[in-house]
Amino acid sequence: MKEKLENIFKEAQIAITQATTRHDILQLKSRFLGKKSDFSSMMKQLGSLPAEEKPAFGSDLNILKTRISELLEQQDEIIREADYQKAIGRNTLDLTMPGRKRERGSLHPITRTWQEIEDIFLAMGFEIAEGPDVEDEFHNFDALNTPQDHPARDLSDTFYINDDVLLRTQTSTVQVRVMQKHKPPIRIISPGSCYRNENDASHSPMFHQVEALVVDQGVNFADLRDILNVFVRKMFGERIDSRIRPHFFPFTEPSAEIDILCIKCFGKGCNLCKGNGWLEMGGAGMVDPNVFDLLGIDSEKYTGYAFGLGIERIAMTKYNIPDMRLLFENDIRFLKQFS
Ligand code: DAH
Repeated sequence: MKEKLENIFKEAQIAITQATTRHDILQLKSRFLGKKSDFSSMMKQLGSLPAEEKPAFGSDLNILKTRISELLEQQDEIIREADYQKAIGRNTLDLTMPGRKRERGSLHPITRTWQEIEDIFLAMGFEIAEGPDVEDEFHNFDALNTPQDHPARDLSDTFYINDDVLLRTQTSTVQVRVMQKHKPPIRIISPGSCYRNENDASHSPMFHQVEALVVDQGVNFADLRDILNVFVRKMFGERIDSRIRPHFFPFTEPSAEIDILCIKCFGKGCNLCKGNGWLEMGGAGMVDPNVFDLLGIDSEKYTGYAFGLGIERIAMTKYNIPDMRLLFENDIRFLKQFS
């Protein structure tokens, strides 16, 4: 047996030292150690040997395998070195050429803005809540005090999946989910995707909002103003003020729209703010007692404020992006500017 192993080794040695290409090496590896090799059939025989012969024979086989593998590796190294020298000789390898630049990925401006928003609110003691993108009418409309005949329910705005199931048009749905599950005090934000059937330079059929909800005893409108001011200054810098204007939302009373001072002209009026001096950022208000009543929160005892901000609007303002579609076209020339 020993002799047979030695013969295999000798045969391998001769063949391997004559190999001149890396392809040869692969073929020799399969010839001497592969499935159909003598080595493999002897490995299979090992099982049927008497127990006392097994260890010694097994060890011999292992040694054979190691020796052949080492030969293959050495010869491979020799071939590689020879190829390299040949390439230099032929001048095909230009050692003075600059290396290949490694491209680095970066966060999408929406993701980056989303994370900045989360950081600011987490630092102020808010928790992050989530809800599904595919919702029912109850969470998207009914529980938010939005009557059956409200125009927002119209098919032209909302993507319906069937009579009751839809893609949420606002992250306010998460307010409902949180109040269904938790008793006050509540202090959450909820960033996420929303969907509406609209598409132009400042609207996309899929967009992002961040919702906020604070419910406790004694929460008032001044608290809402205060938190918005702090957020805006942290997000856009100390020079940027926010303001509110009266508005209507079915689920808040009173309701307001939130503007920020135009970060380009600081209120003078320019092309970014279309001469207004202010940029629109979202809606806000005090939670309507009807919403509390429906969700079983005592509206005599608790008050709350809520707001919803457009994440695209915030990103566009902060990074001076003129067209919302740029955010979703995935043009690498645009995205590279954020690395
Ligand atoms: N959900 C509203 C929208 O999409 C924004 C909004 C307004 C959210 C008032 C609120 C709020 O939480 O209190 O236009």
